[in-house]
Amino acid sequence: MNRRNFLTLATLAAVGTACGSEQPDTWTTGGRLPIPPLYAGRRGEDGVRRFTLNLQRGQTEFLPGKRAATWGVNGSYLGPTLRVTRGDTVAMRVNNQVGEATTLHWHGMRLPARMDGGPHQMIEPDAAWTPRWTVDQPAATSWYHPHPHERTAMHVYRGLAGMFLIDDPRTVEPALPRRYGEDDIPLVIQDKRFTDDGALHEAAVDTGTFGFLGDKILVNGRLQPTLQVTTTLVRFRLLNASNARVYRIGFADDRRFQLIATDAGLLPEPADLDRLKLSPGERAEIVATFAGGEQVFLDSVGEDGDSIERDDFNLLRIIAAETLTAAAPLPRRLSDDPLLQPPPGARVRRFVLSGKEINGKPMDMTRVDEVVPAGATEIWELDNTTYAHNFHIHEVAFRVLALNGAPPPAHLRGHKDTVFVPKRAKVRLAVSFGSHTDPSSPYMYHCHLLRHEDQGMMGQFVIVPPGTEHRTPLTLPAASHHG
Ligand code: C2O
Ligand code: CU
Ligand code: CU
Repeated sequence: MNRRNFLTLATLAAVGTACGSEQPDTWTTGGRLPIPPLYAGRRGEDGVRRFTLNLQRGQTEFLPGKRAATWGVNGSYLGPTLRVTRGDTVAMRVNNQVGEATTLHWHGMRLPARMDGGPHQMIEPDAAWTPRWTVDQPAATSWYHPHPHERTAMHVYRGLAGMFLIDDPRTVEPALPRRYGEDDIPLVIQDKRFTDDGALHEAAVDTGTFGFLGDKILVNGRLQPTLQVTTTLVRFRLLNASNARVYRIGFADDRRFQLIATDAGLLPEPADLDRLKLSPGERAEIVATFAGGEQVFLDSVGEDGDSIERDDFNLLRIIAAETLTAAAPLPRRLSDDPLLQPPPGARVRRFVLSGKEINGKPMDMTRVDEVVPAGATEIWELDNTTYAHNFHIHEVAFRVLALNGAPPPAHLRGHKDTVFVPKRAKVRLAVSFGSHTDPSSPYMYHCHLLRHEDQGMMGQFVIVPPGTEHRTPLTLPAASHHG
C-alpha cells in the first residue's frame, strides 16, 4: 500500500479531517485556475525589449468574501509571466512602490552580477532600478522574486514572484506543447496559512527551524483551482515558489508523465516518471497525457523526512473536455546540448551546510567567499551535516553528478540551478560559470529555504578574468543596509 492510500484510509477512519489535505469532494471554492498574463515587453526601434515592473501593494480575495493585504508585480498578487527569446537585449524598469526597500532577482538568468537583483542591488521605496542585459542561454523556465538581505521570506510570502520564460529558436521547442495557457500551463505553487478574516498569516514566516509551513496551497494565487484541458498532451511548468515546503508532485491516480526540463533547460530526452520532488526555487516542465471526459488531481504526496517533506496536498483539479484535440507525439530528442562534464583536474570546492551556516560562517555582505575564473567548470561538493536544506547558485547551470555517492534519481539528471539537499546528504555538482566578469560585484549561493537564506545561510562569489584570481580584493565596500 502506498503512502497516500494508507493516509486516505487513516483519514476515513479518523473523526475530523487530516491536516492540510483537502478532500476532492470539498474542492469547491477555487473556480478556474488563473493564468498569469504573458508579458513580452515592448520592442523599441533599437531592438531592445523593454519591461516595466511595478512592485505594488494590493488586496486579494483568497477566501470567498474576504480580503487580504498582499503585494504583487503589476497587480495585487504575484506577477506576469515574462517571456524573452535568446539573443534579446532586455531593459527592465523596476519601480518599488511597496513602501520598503527590496530588490528583484532574476533567478536562473545568466547575466552580469550588477544586473542580478541580489542583496547588493537594493531599490529604495519610490525609486526605480533599470538593469539591462542580453539573454544568452538555452530555453528554460526561470523566475523572479525579491532578494533583500534578511527580508526575502516576507517579501516573497506577500506575493512578489512570477515566472520568466526563455525561448530559444535553436531548440525543439516548436514540437512541444507551447500555447501558453492552453496546452502550456504555468503553475506557481505556494503554501499559505490564513487568519480567520482571510488575511495572509504572517506571524510564522520568520520563526521555527524551517520558517513558514502553510496548511493551504495556492496555485497561481488561487485556492482549490480547476483547469479544463482540451488536448491529449499538456505541458505544465512547475515552480515551487514556497518559503520552505518541498512537494513530491504527481497525479492522484499515479499515472506516469514525461519530465522534459529542469531549472536550466530541456533534458536530452524525456524521462518517464510518476513522482517528482521539487524544493523551493526549483522548476520542472512535465508533459502529461489525458483522455476525453476524465478528471484527475495533480497532487503532492509527502514522504518520511523533515517536516517540510511530509504532508500530502491536492494541488489542482484537472477536467478533460469530452473530446480532446490530438497532440503530436513528444520528440524523443529534446536537446543536443551536451550534459555538463567537469574537465580532468577540475577545481573542487567544498561547502559544509550546518544549521544555518555555510562552512561555519554566516553571510557577510562585505566578504567574498569564492573567486571563480570566467568560463570555468568546477566541482562543488555539498556536505549537509544537519536537517534538510537546498542549495541555489546564481548565474550558473549545474548538473548533479552524485547524491550520497550514487547517480542521482532521474528528476535530478538535467541542468539545474537549485537542488534539494536532504538531511545529512552529500551532493556533488558539476558547475558551469559564465563569462561576465566583475571582481567587485558578487553573486550569491545559498539555501533557498527562505528563512535560512534570511538567517545568513548564504555566501558570495565573484567571477574574474582567468589568471587574475589572486589579484581580487577579498572585501567589498560595505553596502548600505536596511533593517
Ligand atoms: Cu531564487 Cu538567490 O534566489
Ligand atoms: Cu537566484
Ligand atoms: Cu536551509
